[in-house]
Amino acid sequence: MKEQTSDRKPFFYDITLRDGNQALPKPWNTQEKKIVFQRLLELGVQGVEVGFSGASDMDFEACAALSAIAPDNVVISGLARAVERDIRKVAEAIAEAPQQRIHTFIATSPFNMANVLRKPPEDVARIAVEAVTLAWEYMKPRGGEVQFSAEHFGDCAENLSFVIDTFQKVVAAGATVINLPNTVERTRPFAFVEMVREVVRALPDHVTVAVHCHNDLGMATATTVESYFAGATQLEVCLNGLGERAGNTSLYEVAAALHNCGVKVPLDMTKFYPTAIKVSEMANVPIFEKAPLIGADAMAHRSGIHQDGATKTKDMSKGAYRPIDPVLIGREGAERWGFTSQSGKTAVYEILTSAGWPVTIEEATTLQPLLKSMSEEQGELPVPVILKTYETYLEQAEGPFQLIEFERIASGVVEKFRIRFVKNGEEQEIIGVGDGPIDACVNGLKECGETLELTHYEQIALDEDSEGASAKAMTTIRIRRPGQTESVLCRGVDTDTRRANVKAIFNGLNKLSVGQC
Ligand code: KIV
Ligand code: ZN
Repeated sequence: MKEQTSDRKPFFYDITLRDGNQALPKPWNTQEKKIVFQRLLELGVQGVEVGFSGASDMDFEACAALSAIAPDNVVISGLARAVERDIRKVAEAIAEAPQQRIHTFIATSPFNMANVLRKPPEDVARIAVEAVTLAWEYMKPRGGEVQFSAEHFGDCAENLSFVIDTFQKVVAAGATVINLPNTVERTRPFAFVEMVREVVRALPDHVTVAVHCHNDLGMATATTVESYFAGATQLEVCLNGLGERAGNTSLYEVAAALHNCGVKVPLDMTKFYPTAIKVSEMANVPIFEKAPLIGADAMAHRSGIHQDGATKTKDMSKGAYRPIDPVLIGREGAERWGFTSQSGKTAVYEILTSAGWPVTIEEATTLQPLLKSMSEEQGELPVPVILKTYETYLEQAEGPFQLIEFERIASGVVEKFRIRFVKNGEEQEIIGVGDGPIDACVNGLKECGETLELTHYEQIALDEDSEGASAKAMTTIRIRRPGQTESVLCRGVDTDTRRANVKAIFNGLNKLSVGQC
């Protein structure tokens, strides 16, 4: 039974070089097609429709060139209208491919037969059989095969028995692949899938049923995936969902959906994202930022609730708010937290820690209201703005102290530093001596009545920010007043490692003064 899926491997038949290409503002030449073809081979698709060789000399040449370099394990097919010249052209163009297929088609919907072909159904059925017979004459001696498509199959609900009858005739004439195109997506996936089921039941087991869904109403993936479960084995898909009008079914979406349903997908899915980027460049068709899986926003979280769930599950194989693990499609690190006026402390924490700034959740909580009010004006805050705001927040922490200047005036075994600062509005200067800036600063402050005990010290290098600003150091220390058991966590950030240390001490002085622990 074809409807049982466990032993049925999906056959990914890619139509980017034909349906996708014919809809490009500037269709690809041979060289460009070769680049995309190479990507398809790396993905591991089972079949490639290389073009419409009857359309132009350029496409004929491209089909022939790809056929000549095709590997043994991929079916190479060319599209032909049900006319003698087109079929001959395909036969010539794909002659060098190790596995050849002629794909011929004619419209079978009542509307198209009457208004476009302007032929009665009997003539259409006869032309279909003649086309398949001719294609099979070319293919049989070469061990190739014939695919027949009933164009506008999605509009054939009212004459389905005629269409099935035509299929049976073309199968008798040599076709072994019957393709059911939803040439224009107009209604419900469910109705289409029911028709697929009927065709599957009516055809002999040696025939492969294929679906080819256009995405006019945005349901092509749903229709293709459900058609697979209804018995269609060949899934006709396009890279980046390219294709006529709103495009064809996206290869990535179908593969990811099947993968999530436990179907073994015979593709290298880790190549999806790099391929999508390359194809977008080559087609000159940008990727919509909301495009499933490959869009810039496809793994971004902006609302506080989603950010919380995503954070709690980010290291699990199933995330609370992501369809798949981004690593699976070669998008490692794509899950990201964007800070907007709808975001919470979790986003602040995630953004800072992912940028290599190891803040605490308490610090993130304190910073969040400030960032939120900034975001109400500015929208999503870029990461460098968040980092800068955090740095400023550390320097301007509430309290009576403000560091003005810090300068090393002697170096050697003991070092000497001049530190100028404001305390309670009054400028002061101390000369500190010690075996480093922290020691010197603590010693100097003691002279003016500020005695501190250091209980923890750590300094890390922060990565360059995304705007390429020079790397900074972050000092994290814990200090307390003598006799206290509680210490305060304080930090300083600067491009100068010594200054970062001194900034951390002043951050701590302010925290101790306002009683923050
Ligand atoms: O959309 C369609 O009907 C087609 C056929 C030629 C298969 O592309
Ligand atoms: Zn199509």
